[in-house]
Amino acid sequence: MRRLAPTVDVEVLLTSEDRRQALLHDVATGLTRTPKDLPPKWFYDERGSELFAEITRLPEYYLTRRERAILAERVHEIAADTRADTLVELGSGTSEKTRFLLDGLGAAGVLRRFVALDVSEATLRESAARIAGEYPGVMVTAIVGDFDRHLGAIPPGGRRLIAFLGSSIGNFGPVERSRFLATAQATLEEGDALLVGVDLVKEPERLVAAYDDRSGVTAEFNRNVLRVVNRELGADFRPECFDHVARWDAAGEWVELALRSRVDQRVRIPGAGLTVEFARGEELRTEISAKFRPEGVRAELAAAGFEPARFWTDAQDDFALALAVPA
Ligand code: SAH
Ligand code: AVI
Repeated sequence: MRRLAPTVDVEVLLTSEDRRQALLHDVATGLTRTPKDLPPKWFYDERGSELFAEITRLPEYYLTRRERAILAERVHEIAADTRADTLVELGSGTSEKTRFLLDGLGAAGVLRRFVALDVSEATLRESAARIAGEYPGVMVTAIVGDFDRHLGAIPPGGRRLIAFLGSSIGNFGPVERSRFLATAQATLEEGDALLVGVDLVKEPERLVAAYDDRSGVTAEFNRNVLRVVNRELGADFRPECFDHVARWDAAGEWVELALRSRVDQRVRIPGAGLTVEFARGEELRTEISAKFRPEGVRAELAAAGFEPARFWTDAQDDFALALAVPA
């Protein structure tokens, strides 16, 4: 572990070479099958993280505002229930809403440590440094890592609250999600708790609008994955030759994002030793964003070995926060 600034420890579990190798693997497998796909973690280079921050301020993207409202209202209950001295945030991004938890646990007089884990190194370093500056009494650790692989690197000890906000859990497919919850459960010790934000099932029109905003920010976010592959693997994707697609999948209860080729085209990806053909109209799947029902969340938590302690929604019943402890 390397000390960056007096109050931020940075642990790099994913170097840029590790990231390149992982991208290479995902490109080599995802772009050679039908339908083609890429995992959503590749959206988030610096530009992608900025675009996501812009998404959270869009009028159509209600998720962040609703989760913030729940956190503002419930933070003292969360602090009283958990008495957590360590707050761990997975996929922390800019950790903007996290300040409610830091303030609440601080006001309860229990908070000692904040651990942020994210794949996006530049954004993570910047936001961890900002938090260290704003909360001088709190030890801040930034882990550059993948929450699919590195939950075991969360520092042990104390009473830990693991926060997984923003409905990022919805970006897993159902099988990966139950695997993630089981791993999280196995990582937690007695006295620890898990706080998960989930977007709730609602009218498809509102859901699709949240992922197909009028100003086109989500379209740019979606196309950003092509720019990442171009830069990292020397590919020659022309992002303007792909349309942004956001559709509601009623059977899976998720919004699916894809990039649809506008023309027949051939893309060279020298870093992966690949040439990939896209037919006009062919789609590259880039993300699913699952939406949840309260009973489904409780059942999934129970199946993973959690006792669902609390479940809060905002006034409009758009979004929910579940607090769970290992059974
Ligand atoms: N939690 C924040 C940010 C959500 S955006 C919020 O609620 O607003 C998703 C974040 O998760 C990004 O910062 C992205 O870099 C990170 N991320 C995506 N996939 C990841 C993975 N597999 N492991 C770790 N971080 C990941
Ligand atoms: C990070 N994640 C929860 C966002 C979501 O809503 O699924 C990512 C996103 N994709 C498009 N817009 C936002």
